[in-house]
Amino acid sequence: MNPFPIDQQVILQIRTELGIKSLAQATIRQIVHLVNRLQEMYDVQFVRTEMGVPGLPAPSLAIDAEITGLTKGAASVYPPIEGIQPLKKELSRFAQLFMNVDIAPEGCIPTVGSMQSSFLAFLVANRRDPAKDTTLFIDPGFPVHKRQPSILGMKYESFDIFEYRGDKLRAKLESYLEKGNISTFLYSNPNNPAWICFTNKELKIIGELADKNGVIVLEDLAYFGMDFRQDFGKPGLPPYQASVAHYTKNYILLFSSSKVFSYAGQRIGAMLISDQLFHTHYPNLLNYFNTDKFGNAILQDAMYCISAGTAHTPQLGFAAILKAVNDGDYDFVEVVSEYGRRAKVMKQIFVDNGFQLVYDRDEAQELADGFYFTISYPGMSGEELLSELIRFGISAITLDTTGSTRNEGLRICVSQATDERLADLESRIRLFAHAQI
Ligand SMILES: Cc1ncc(COP(=O)(O)O)c(C=O)c1O
Repeated sequence: MNPFPIDQQVILQIRTELGIKSLAQATIRQIVHLVNRLQEMYDVQFVRTEMGVPGLPAPSLAIDAEITGLTKGAASVYPPIEGIQPLKKELSRFAQLFMNVDIAPEGCIPTVGSMQSSFLAFLVANRRDPAKDTTLFIDPGFPVHKRQPSILGMKYESFDIFEYRGDKLRAKLESYLEKGNISTFLYSNPNNPAWICFTNKELKIIGELADKNGVIVLEDLAYFGMDFRQDFGKPGLPPYQASVAHYTKNYILLFSSSKVFSYAGQRIGAMLISDQLFHTHYPNLLNYFNTDKFGNAILQDAMYCISAGTAHTPQLGFAAILKAVNDGDYDFVEVVSEYGRRAKVMKQIFVDNGFQLVYDRDEAQELADGFYFTISYPGMSGEELLSELIRFGISAITLDTTGSTRNEGLRICVSQATDERLADLESRIRLFAHAQI
């Protein structure tokens, strides 16, 4: 029996039990709890689009490399803090082959997921100069990133790029930089939640202003190569992943295996520090670390204190997959392009039923189909829309917590939308649209 639309009173009662005052401000985990309860109560599966989890299996060659490592005794051996050499070498090759950027293996540091990369970066980069104590987030963004400076007692500012694409980005960035307090920029590209991709013009502006103002750019590449409008998956051949690394030497690239290699469970990522930055000395670092050299402060102090490196066998698995990718034996872009296919179908279902895309262009170009997209429905706030969609068995998150000014919007993650779920999505969205007439 189809329970939709679910009675709003029932949903409100569960929300009260779970302490969810506002759906707009609810964390993803709270939405997950709410939907789990409704699924149990009505014995029905929701179309789950709230959580950005990989929806594809982990590559077996990485798992095999981990098993081999374990059987050979890796579990009892501390891995080196700077990471195992084969992985550092493959990360450096990857940067060269897929970005056309030279980064010595020394600056390619395995981390406990990209989350640890950004945490380490804040910890050191924001302490180079007492006058530069603030991070500028180019939003919308991944909410946990802002929690990191907050729990470190550091300051941040942010703005939504929606109105400032292309040339307009320069003046907007300058309006923050003129105070002289900005230490780091952080943005994700492709972007979680909006799936905008920064154009080369925008990346050049970011790079130039970083150089001019002594800012370190933290470029989050958690969705590396997943702008499927071009094929970034052929080693050593253009086109290359767009990156600020082409325009400045003041950068740290935050790399993740979670989505591109469906390896989220092993908590392995990397930070790729430019050669120049790795070797730069900042006297103020001595107030916190046992060295004034940037790369050494990251490794010998910050990383040592936090986790003393990264677990051994995930490094072996990550190295194995990167080697296959670098050698041209595993086309990771081809594998994850499944998300682009799902996004195309899902967007069409929403648009055919009166929804609009919120972030829809990169300057003149239509947005790529990828891991996320954003929607709105005329006359409803994001909170109202989410509240209604939940009644029809569809979950999502609002854009309110992402630093977006578009409070009419929801983020849809496509990763769990298998073909069967897509059929449910279509019938439920039709029901929803019919109920609005
Ligand atoms: C933009 C962005 N950065 C970082 C991460 C976290 O990556 P990791 O799993 O490597 O810590 C995510 C995960 O969803 C993300 O969306």
